Amino acid sequence: MVRHFLRDDDLTPSEQREVLALALAMRTDRFARRPLDGPRSVAVIFDKPSTRTRVSFQVGIAELGGFPLVIDAGSSQLGRGEPIEDTARVLDRQVAAIVWRTAGQERVEAMAAAARVPVVNALTDQFHPCQVLADLLTVAQHREAAGGVDALPGMTLAYLGDGANNMAASYLLGGATAGLHVRVATPAAYVPAPSVVADAEAIAARTGGSVLVTHDAVEAASGVDVLATDTWVSMGQEGEGSAREAVFAPFRVDAAVLALAAPDALVLHCLPAYRGKEITAEVLDGPRSVVWDEAENRLHAQKALLTWLLERS
Ligand code: CP
Ligand code: NVA
Repeated sequence: MVRHFLRDDDLTPSEQREVLALALAMRTDRFARRPLDGPRSVAVIFDKPSTRTRVSFQVGIAELGGFPLVIDAGSSQLGRGEPIEDTARVLDRQVAAIVWRTAGQERVEAMAAAARVPVVNALTDQFHPCQVLADLLTVAQHREAAGGVDALPGMTLAYLGDGANNMAASYLLGGATAGLHVRVATPAAYVPAPSVVADAEAIAARTGGSVLVTHDAVEAASGVDVLATDTWVSMGQEGEGSAREAVFAPFRVDAAVLALAAPDALVLHCLPAYRGKEITAEVLDGPRSVVWDEAENRLHAQKALLTWLLERS
């Protein structure tokens, strides 16, 4: 059976642990695994801009022995309306996997339904599961003395900001899968999709984690092990910028919010960051921030994910 990674809960808790453990090992022995030797190719398609995702998949596929075939949708027939299913049929005879950043989740689902190779979600409007895999790896890396991946269950993560965006949804699903206590603090008009909260709650009930959606940043940040945020203006929302700044201002991650967290709390931001908006420069560039490790961990997490998916498909 072909395995895809379209949302965070496409990996079971034990599968997610396997991928994270492999990623931790690949951090230290970067060139040990070459599942794409040949080279076999992987298509990496972008319908939206990217720096980290583009670089980490392109470098990672090369490091796995493969050839990264990076396609900007605007310069392909997919961008001119060729059906997703036809694109899948053309690609899957030539590539070992398809990685796609696009808008609607239904688009990666359609690609996965038609393709006979693994499809990986490189960000949709609804989910950003590769990012949260890298975020969990970053927490495990910084808690290696406490057990690494084994230290994740029971930890508390608070996400402050846009609760309706892809990062909030992926923290809920991916965090619950890891057994985290996930708190999302967001304005009432920006709560996560009820179906995502329900799915995260069902996962958390099995993993020992929990889910809290609140409108109170202080309640969310108090005592947490991990404090996370994301831009208030996601790709495609640029026209709503100033209205969003006013409503999200009480959810900014600043020194006062960080002071509420555990003394050794880690600060995550998927980047790109907007200093002075969702996070202050003092916190982003401060001693608790692990955002550069987090960005590097996209490489290790995705190499492990591709290796794992290819071995099972
Ligand atoms: N965090 C992240 O996905 O960054 P890019 O948009 O630069 O890929
Ligand atoms: N929520 C952001 C994440 C960027 C990596 C966006 O979708 O633009």
